[in-house]
Order: sequence, then structure tokens, then C-alpha cells
Amino acid sequence: MDKYEKVTELARRRGFLWPAFELYGGAAGFYDYGPLGGPLKRRIEDTWRKFFVIEEGFAEIEAPTIGVEGVFQASGHLSGFSDPLTSCGECKEIYRADHLIKHIVEVPDALSNEEIFNIIKDNEIYCPECGGNLSNVYEFNLMFKTMIGPGNKMPGYLRPETAQGMFINFPRLLRYFRDTLPFAAVQIGKSFRNEISPRQGVIRLREFTQAEAEIFINPANKTHPKSSEVKEIRVKFYSQAAQERGEPEDMTFGEAVDCGIIAHQVLAYYVARTYQFLLAVGISPNLMRFRQHKSDEMAHYAADCWDAEVFLDRLGWIEIVGIADRTDFDLKAHMALSKINLKVFVPFNKPVKRQKLMVKPDMKALGPMFKGKAKAIADALKALNPEDLRGDRIKINIDGEIVELDPSLVSYGIVEEEVRGEEIIPHVIEPSFGIDRIIYAAMDHAYYEDTVEGETRVVLRFKPAVAPIEVAILPLMDREDLVAPAEKISDELRSLGLRIDYDTSGSIGRRYRRNDEVGTPYCVTVDYETLEAGTITIRDRDSMKQVRARTDELAKKLKALFEGSIQFQEAGVPINANEQ
Ligand code: ATP
Ligand code: GLY
Repeated sequence: MDKYEKVTELARRRGFLWPAFELYGGAAGFYDYGPLGGPLKRRIEDTWRKFFVIEEGFAEIEAPTIGVEGVFQASGHLSGFSDPLTSCGECKEIYRADHLIKHIVEVPDALSNEEIFNIIKDNEIYCPECGGNLSNVYEFNLMFKTMIGPGNKMPGYLRPETAQGMFINFPRLLRYFRDTLPFAAVQIGKSFRNEISPRQGVIRLREFTQAEAEIFINPANKTHPKSSEVKEIRVKFYSQAAQERGEPEDMTFGEAVDCGIIAHQVLAYYVARTYQFLLAVGISPNLMRFRQHKSDEMAHYAADCWDAEVFLDRLGWIEIVGIADRTDFDLKAHMALSKINLKVFVPFNKPVKRQKLMVKPDMKALGPMFKGKAKAIADALKALNPEDLRGDRIKINIDGEIVELDPSLVSYGIVEEEVRGEEIIPHVIEPSFGIDRIIYAAMDHAYYEDTVEGETRVVLRFKPAVAPIEVAILPLMDREDLVAPAEKISDELRSLGLRIDYDTSGSIGRRYRRNDEVGTPYCVTVDYETLEAGTITIRDRDSMKQVRARTDELAKKLKALFEGSIQFQEAGVPINANEQ
């Protein structure tokens, strides 16, 4: 078995990830989180909340997972969120057409369907299953469509990203943030994409969890007040130019901004925060890089995009987070379709004086002349430039009809006015995290094997902050005199909010192994010295070392270990016990 098989087998056997609907034969692209996967997911999401909701002060909202048509018409998903398909004329199998030519064209995204089909024909590519002829290439929209209510009147779509919830609520969010930029809102929730052939476990799902932040900024100010806090962090940047050369560059965020590899401080700051978050949930820094999208692979809404990619056994480099500069694409599109003003008034530091053309139509004359049309004519006159107002006749277009007027019907002049600010459409920086991919990557990077007394020991070296079980309480033997104090310790630690597993079954060595395999950082053993001397042992998962500590100090010691304020050896008196 390679590591991929070992991790997925462990995930299934120990209750992290189960293929969904198994009782009814299953369906590709859907997974259940089991009793250990559920808490692992929750803790990774909570770590994300700590970074972005608590530390960055972003507002967390929750919008419906079904959206009405207008949302996705404006966002571009209705027309542009599709993949090119081809099907086999013989066995009817359906394929991503662009995937079939990947060995010929490195970035097929830029090709039209006709061009892809021609490449398939010219290179004599046939059905990989049965060798049959492949059909013309056609588009398949990845959104799941449904009907809202009975009948066919109101189509709805399962959202393909959580982001639109933030855009749709923009006017209310703006008010919530007291009409001031920058501000940001986030959602952690399900997204749905009817992926064509989802394989690779939770890497490509049809229902998955995203954690997304939409950070609304004034495009005139792309600096970030906290950029100095991250500027010394060093990562691997795989910019467009570095991809041409085939080699990522090691540099700090400060250097990357200074030499223009990352376009501006705001983007750089959130790429750096992404890096810090990924480290906090256990992604290995050596197996991570930030890759810039090439111009022909960018999503329809993005001007620039950096993916956090991780190296996974068998799968290679996989995107787990995308950090995009969405510019004003979405707000502009929603403004155009909804006809609701989504601009923000940005006050100047000091009011400025500006010269302005003031056009004054003579309403006393225009009213009787044009009656019901007079207001439209006056409005059209006010929109004219001085050169249109000069000359013998003034010509205006009212709903396609050209109306000619005598210049005496309007007066105009230049006036000076005080301008206190301007209306702008904010730009958006969007870090978009795929939680399921992060979970799998955290498992892959935590997976570790060593040999103990001739046997392979499997360990998930989870960070304590995400481990689904924090402490296992293990009575040395399943006997009443040991079980009673062990249960009491479990109850006490549970009441302090720790995630406890209480286990009496099998030898102590087997119980240590079971806990190593699911990543429990500490095992506490209750033995006869607990009864006689009021002490327990604490065992460290990674080093397998043990210390003996006072039972009444256990909670305090565990708290200090989880906070990282003491080293394991300081938690008690080291014992030379052979742990078996
Ligand atoms: P890919 O190119 O791998 O399909 P993408 O570019 O479509 O990914 P985005 O649209 O940028 O992905 O989505 C943001 C994040 O959501 C991704 O970084 C990924 O972690 C996650 N994600 C996207 N599609 C899926 C999916 N089908 N299953 C699981 N996670 C996904
Ligand atoms: N919100 C980014 C994406 O899901 O494509």
C-alpha cells in the first residue's frame, strides 16, 4: 500500500471519512464525516474562525445554500461555470474533453470547444474505456438546478461558492460596518458542484465545505496596516514567471511585494495569513507552495489569483485554497442586474473645490411646449456637455426620438462647488478555503510510521489544536478499583471542555496504539499508584515518553501542555517505563 491508500484506509476504518450512501450502492463525490472526522472538521473550522473572525474581526454570516436565478446570472455562473465534455458513441461514457488532451496542450482552458474537438480528432484520441469514437465537445454547467416551490416558475441553484451570500448582502453589511471601508464578511458552509467524474476521495466532491472571506477594499488604497507583521515570513512562491522557469522562488512576503511578484500589500497579507492558518492546522511548510494562476486559467471574475498548493502522496500538487483579486466584478454585475446602487461614499481627507457645469432648462417655456415629456427633456439637457449646448440648435435624443431645441430654452454656466468625497465601487480580495481538502492534507501530512519493538507503529501527528480526541483516559486494567477513579478523572476533564476518550478494552499497549493512530496527543493511565500515591502517568504521543504527575494537578498540566507554556518533560517526573 502507498501512503494514499494507507491514509484513506485509516480514515475509513477509524471513522474519519466514509463514502456516503453505502447502503444503497454509494454515489461518487459524496462523503460522510464519521465520529472522528466530524470533530476534526469542526476543530479545523474553529481554527479558521479564530484566525479570520476573531483575529481579523471579519463578520460571519450564514446565507441560504439555494440561490435564485438572478444571483448566478449576475455572478456569471449561469453562463460561464461549465466544463467541456465529450461522450463515447459506443459505451456512452462521458469525459472531460480538456482532460483528454492535457498531455498535448498544457493549459487547455483557453481553447474553444471546436479547437478541443479538432485536437481530439487530429491526435486520434478515442474512448479510454472501449476505444469508441468521441462526440463533439459540448458545455456542461456544474450547478445543480432545482425548482423553488411547486411548478416550474422559479428556478433555483445550489450555490457553487459561498461568496455570493456576501455580495448579495453588501448594502446591509456596509451599514453594519458604519459605511466604512475596508470591511469583510465570511461564511463557512456547503457548496455544490456537479463535478463530472469525482475521484480522489474528498479532494473532488459534489458537496463540499468552503470557508470564504470577501474583503471589501477601496481600490485606491491597497496597503495593509498589519503588513509589517507578516513581511519576514518566508515561503515558496511559484509566480507566473517562475512557472515559465519551472522553479519556485524562496522569498519573504516583504520581498515578494517589493519586487512586484505579489501585486499589492493587501493580497500579500491574506496569502501570508493563509500560510499561518495552514501551519496551525498541521500542513507541512516543506510540502506547501503558493502558485499564481496563469492568465489563461484565471476564473471569470479574477484579475489575479494565488493558490495554496500542497504536495500529497500519489496526487501530487493540489490546490487547497485560492486567494483571488475579484476586483469590482461581482458588485458591478449585481448593481447592473438588480439596479440597486452598491457604491460606497468615500469621504476625502479634506473637501476639495471643483468646477462644475450647471445647466438650467427654462421649465416655464418647456412645460407648455412638451407637457408630459418636459421632465425627460430637462433631464437630457442637464446631461449635455458645453459643446452640445452651443450652436444654433440643441439636439437631444428622447427614447430614440431626436428633439431639436432653440438654445434660448436653456442657460448654463460654470460654478464652483465643494466636494466632500466620491462614490466608488469597492474591490474584493477573496481567500477561499476548501475545508475538505485541508482535512485530507492535514491527515496526509500528519501520517507517520515508526518501528517499535519490531512492529510498525502508525501515528497521526495532529496538532493538538485540531486533534479529534485530546486526551485518552485509560485504566491500566478493567477492574472496579481502577475504573472508578478513571471515570471520575474523565468526568472532571470533560467538564473543563476537553475532548476525552475513555477506553478500557484490550492491553494498555494496544490502547496506546489505537490512540496514536487517531492522533490523540496525550494518554493518561490510571494505575495502582493512583490509588496509593494520588498520581497518574501522562504519555506523549510523538515521543512515547511518560511522566508521572499528581492527579489533582492533571487538569492544570494538560492545560499548560495544550497552551504550549510547558514542555512535556515539565509536566511531571519522567519515568523510564517501557510503555508496553
Ligand atoms: P479545481 O481546479 O481543483 O477544480 P477550483 O479552482 O475550481 O479547483 P475554486 O473554485 O478556486 O477551486 O474553489 C475554492 C476552493 O474550494 C478550492 O481551493 C478547493 O479547496 C475547494 N474546492 C473546489 N472545488 C472542490 C470540490 N469539487 N471538492 C472539494 N473541494 C473543492
Ligand atoms: N469563491 C471562489 C470559488 O469558489 O470559485
